[in-house]
Formats: sequence, C-alpha cells, structure tokens
Amino acid sequence: MNTLISNDSKWILTEEGTDPETIRQNETLFALSNGHFGTRGSLEEVGRTKNYSHSEATLVNAYYDSEPIQYGEWAYGYAKEHQTVIPVPNGKKLTIKLDNERFDLEAGKTTNHKRQLDLKKGILTRTFTWENTKGHRIDVKIERFVSYDYPEILAQKVAVTPHDDDCALEIVTGLDDLKDLGQASEIESNDPRVKTQKGRRFRSEKIKNTQNKMLHIETNNTNLNLIVGEKNQFSSPSADYSTKGNEESWEVKAIKGETVVLERLVAYSNIFDDNSERDGIAQRTSTLLNEASAIGFQELKEKQIKHMEEFWDMSDIEIEGDDELQVGLRFNLFHLYQAAGRDGNRNMSAKGLTGEGYEGHYFWDTEMYMLPFFLYTQPKIAKRLLNYRYTILEEARNRAREMAVDAGALFAWRTINGKEASPYYPAGTAQIHINGDIAHAIHTYVKATGDKRFGMKEGLEILLETARFYAAWGHYDEKRNGAFVLNDVTGPDEYTAIVNNNYYTNLMAKHNFKYAADMVEAVLESEDELGQEVLSRINFKKKELNNWKKAYENMFLPYDEEQQLTMQDDSFFHKEVWDIENTPKENFPLLLNYHPLTIYRYQVNKQADTVLAQFLFSDEFSQEQKARDYEYYESVTTHDSSLSRSIFGIMASDLNQMEKAYNYFMDTALMDISDLQSNTKDGVHAANMGGTWMSMIYGFGGLRLVGDTLHFKPRLPEEWKRITFKVQFRHRVIKVSISKEEADYQLIKGEPLVIKHFDEERYLK
Ligand code: BGC
Repeated sequence: MNTLISNDSKWILTEEGTDPETIRQNETLFALSNGHFGTRGSLEEVGRTKNYSHSEATLVNAYYDSEPIQYGEWAYGYAKEHQTVIPVPNGKKLTIKLDNERFDLEAGKTTNHKRQLDLKKGILTRTFTWENTKGHRIDVKIERFVSYDYPEILAQKVAVTPHDDDCALEIVTGLDDLKDLGQASEIESNDPRVKTQKGRRFRSEKIKNTQNKMLHIETNNTNLNLIVGEKNQFSSPSADYSTKGNEESWEVKAIKGETVVLERLVAYSNIFDDNSERDGIAQRTSTLLNEASAIGFQELKEKQIKHMEEFWDMSDIEIEGDDELQVGLRFNLFHLYQAAGRDGNRNMSAKGLTGEGYEGHYFWDTEMYMLPFFLYTQPKIAKRLLNYRYTILEEARNRAREMAVDAGALFAWRTINGKEASPYYPAGTAQIHINGDIAHAIHTYVKATGDKRFGMKEGLEILLETARFYAAWGHYDEKRNGAFVLNDVTGPDEYTAIVNNNYYTNLMAKHNFKYAADMVEAVLESEDELGQEVLSRINFKKKELNNWKKAYENMFLPYDEEQQLTMQDDSFFHKEVWDIENTPKENFPLLLNYHPLTIYRYQVNKQADTVLAQFLFSDEFSQEQKARDYEYYESVTTHDSSLSRSIFGIMASDLNQMEKAYNYFMDTALMDISDLQSNTKDGVHAANMGGTWMSMIYGFGGLRLVGDTLHFKPRLPEEWKRITFKVQFRHRVIKVSISKEEADYQLIKGEPLVIKHFDEERYLK
C-alpha cells in the first residue's frame, strides 16, 4: 500500500515524517487550486526548503509570458513564440520564530510532523511540534485552502501553542522578496515535457494608497497584469506589530497552553491587460480582502466544505471492496475538478495548476480526456471549457491561412493564447486531429446536455470551420479509387510522425464532416435564427454541404486485408517492429533516449492511437475486429505517454478481458500517487486523471452514448463488490449502482427516460 494512503480514511492522504524526498514528491500531489489559480503543496518556510522542494510555484491560469522561439534553422510557418506560464508571488510564506530562532525542518528538532490533504473538504493541514536549540517547544497547526467561493483567495491559518513554558514568539509573513520576484523557476531540463524558460519574466511595483498591501505585477512581453494583495489578522492584540520591506511581523509573549493564531489571506486578482484599470482593480481586490477577512477563516472554511460537499454529491464514484483504490480514485476526481478554468476564457492545462510542466499549455487532452468527466457530472464547467475554443477560433483561422489552407480553421496543438506554441511541428502542428477532437467534444456535449443554444452558435461555427479545414487539407486520390485522403499528418501516437492517412485522424475528420453536415441540415430545416446567423456570417455555401457529405462517404480508412487488421496509417506495417522486450528498462521513455528518426522508423507506439479510435466509435467495429487490433497494437505500445493506459484499460473492459482491464486501471488510477511516469514532480497528469474517470464509467460501467440513448454494459473486475456513480444527461441525474449480480439505475432528478442495459431497454422514472 502506498504510504500516503492509510486504512482509516477513504478521503485523506497522509504524509508523516520529514523525509525531504517524500515532502518534495508530495508538493505536486498536495497542490491546491480552483481553476483560476493554484499553489503547490510546498512548505511555508519559503527559501529554507531547498531540499524539500522542487518548485514552490503559485500559478495563475493563463498568466504567461512569451519570448521568441530560437531555432537553429528556421522554416516558414514555424511557431514563433514560447508561451510560458510563470510563477507569481508566493503567498504561502510564513516564518515562525521562537526565542528569535527561526523554524525550519533542519533547525532544532521537529517531531510528529504530519501533512494531510482532505479531499472531501479541499483543505491541506500540517501539524508538528518543534523544539528549538534551547529546548523550548511549540505545537503548530497550519491550514491552507484555495477558495471556490472567492476564487481569487488563498486562505491560511497558523495556530501556535507553547508546549512546556511561556516563550517569545514571532510570526512573520510577506510575499517573496521583491528582488526575487518575476524569476521563472530554476528548472532547466532537456526533457521536452518540462521546458521552462529561465530568467526574469515580470516587473513588480508596490501600490500605494490602498488599505491593504498590494503589489502590481506585469509580464515583460505579454503585458499581462495582476494584482496580488494580502491581509493578515493576528489573534493577540498585545502583540508588537512591525513592518519591514515586504514583511509584516507580530511579536508576542506566548503563554503555555494558550494558542496564538494568525489568519492570512492572499488575493490574486483576475488577469487584465489594460494598465489603466490598475487602480480600480487594486481597490476591488482590497475590498474583497476586507470582506473575506470580515467573514473570517472559520466561515470561509465552512463555505469551502459546503462547496466541496456539493461537488462530491454529484461527482463521486464509490468502490466497495478496495479502500486504497477508493482514495486513489477520489484523488484523481479532486484534481480534475481543481484544474478546470471556469470563466470561459481559460482552459485546463496538461498539468492543471499543479506544476510548470508543459509550460501551462492546453492540449487535445482537455477535449478527449478531461471533458467527459465534466460533461457528465459538471456540464456547466464543460461548456466553459469548450467556450475557450470559441475564443481562440480567430487565431485558429489565422493558423490555417499560415498553413496555406484557404478555408476553415486549424487549432494550435499546444497553446494558451490560441497561437501555436509547439516548436516541434512533427509532434505538434502535424497533429491536425485536434480539430476533429474538438468537433467530437462539441458534438458529444450538445447531445449529452441538450444545450441547443451552444450547438447552434459557438458549437456550430467551430464544427463548420474545422470541417472546412479538413476538406481543404485533404484531396481525392485517384490511385486509391478516388478515396478522400489526408496526407502528412501525425496521429495521437507521437512515435510515428508525418504519415499518410493516420486511421484515427481520418476517422475523426470523417465524423467532423458528418457533424457539420447534420448541423447545417438541421439549421436549414428548422430555420433556427442563431444557426442561420452563423451560416451567413461565415459565408457558408450550399456546395460545401455536398462536399462534406462526399468526403464523409469516401474517406479512406486503411485496412490490411491479409492480416485482417486496421492499419494505423499507410506505412505502419511496412516498418520493422521495435523490440520492446529487449530494450533496456532505463531507455524508456524512448523519447529521452533515441533520436526521433530512430523511433519513427519502427512500429512502436507511445500511446493508444487506432485503439483510441475504436474506443470512441466502438459500435462501428465488430468485437472480433477490435480484439484483433487490440492484441496487435498492445504488443507494439510502450505507454510512454500517460494518455495510453486508460484507453487500453477501457478497451479491455469492452472486450471483456477483465483482469487486464483491472491491471491497467490500477496503473491509471494510482499513476501520480505512485509516480509511475517518474515525472509527477512537474505536475499531475491531468489527462490520465480524466482517463481514470473514463475507465470507471466508460470502462467498467460500459457507458456509451449511442444515437440519443445512454447504453450501459457494466462489467466489474473480480476484486470489487460494487461501484456507484452518478451521471447527468439532458437535465436529468441518474444514479448507477453496479454489482456482479445486478445493475440498478435510478432517476433521481428530471423527466423519465429510456436507457439501455446491454440489449434490454429500461424505462426510468
Ligand atoms: C502526449 C500527447 C499529450 C501531451 C500533453 C504527450 O506526451 O503524447 O498526446 O497531448 O503529452 O499531455
């Protein structure tokens, strides 16, 4: 059993002791966030925690700076600028001094050191007893949370109690020293999954004339502004209060057994780009701090608990029969919920707000891995995530023009501001499947929620522009009996690049054509005003509808008749098979140990590709076909990407290979807790966390949306007695409870509906 997980709670991760390695590792796992900002689970004694910390970063979603990408050799259309999310002033900083001696884990003696992340409440608590060199002891308890009700606020409470005698106590707070501010973390690495730019990235200035302490920061090149303010309340009125530079301090003669308390609030305002708004926003932030401080830590905490209760009530999954897994599972759901941008303008990065890995970029991960969880349990957030794509549609149009495609839009492979930020196009821009991924997500969202308004407006426009792009990128190939082909693309598997007719991409594009054609027909038929406005604004021509239908019908989908296998692309089976078994363990992931061209020359997969296509459209393939393809592609897959295992697990359930499904699921659900990919230090693997939810609901629950009906084909692994979860579907809430013997579907909110349990129809009311 993982040491973080104990038997006595299905909600709490517990770390005990002061081992630097463990504390450093848990910095990512204990990160707290709310979609607007997040802060890693680092210790409060900032600056004295080097051995205990990989990065103490506090990150604001989409607060980034940019710099020109330096290429050794440039070519037309390459991505121009890095976009790098940068740590903002660290509001966790607290210094405790006893008899003028400063606490840290290497001074004096610390005992009973314990940190607990309470998933149910969304609160991180640290407790310990510290003995200084003079033998005086204090008991300390520090609580921290990132508020959902006040999304700009980080709340902390430190409570110190002298243990054996009265003592001289001092507590000092402050944002990091101004001179250190604006440095991107010192992380330097050749690992393309890290890639943080070093150096000073923003200017900062104190704001005068506000009631609370306020700092204005502005990024160097993107000119994004942020106000960071703080407000502290100390319990003892007799304390000696002083300020020095950035710091505030309270000195007090503390009495044995009596607890002194500091409540600390730090606010990170919303990002703004017009500097003239600064004073108004500073004022607003200051007022917010006053309000929150008047409410007080205790009540803010109760609100947080209530918010989390509502979240869990809808989004929890219960497993009977495996307590370790139960916590592990909840840990994933917790982080998913924390990571999603909620304002419609920002999205969800591959690491959430738990680390600087992948520079805070948004990928296809959102639509294909994280979105299903939101779609079926928090549809309002799902809509906001999709709306972000609408906000960058214009950039996607520009990108298509840059790629000499004269119609439609191509979404950036990785980005914050909508512009392509991937400097390596073979595994970046070439992944044009991102268009089809977004289209698929929109289609599923509209079907599952019934949100016609989004479907007829933002959704429609995106579906049409992505379809236009594919129509212009591809062509009819006479040598393939006139089939519609898409050449020189990269599929999800990044160990195979720039190929013709990647099966996954072609299938996604094919469906994109269908979604677009169906929507246009629906608009024309219903004369929906919103829809018609979109068609006329983007200058839709009727002949496009016929083009899409024709491309849909003639899409080339490579298949090897001789082996009866679906082909990943035109050339895949012509390559030699990589000898995975005899590759030394330390050479994985291959991307860190072999030149791309070495990898591309072989049949070897980083992640699910064809198998992913078959999962998404599972009713379009026979079970026999899926089983054959699964066996083949599994044998050439390294799972070097964290996006792989969950899909293989779900498809194992689909094929009724339950032991395999269970094993993949265990790796998926515990990936970050057990640091399976050896890079959790850079942030959690958010896509895999979404994969965990999908494994439960799509895998073991067997949920598929077929036409307009929810189909369930539940199958439990031997190890479990029962799983219970809820899904939302078109303003209804359905509670599903599955054991080995039976499946129970209960409609707990909304109008009656028919669902399918295997082949049997069930009427829920
Ligand atoms: C995967 C991509 C993924 C990216 C961000 C890469 O390792 O191959 O599919 O989008 O990580 O998570």
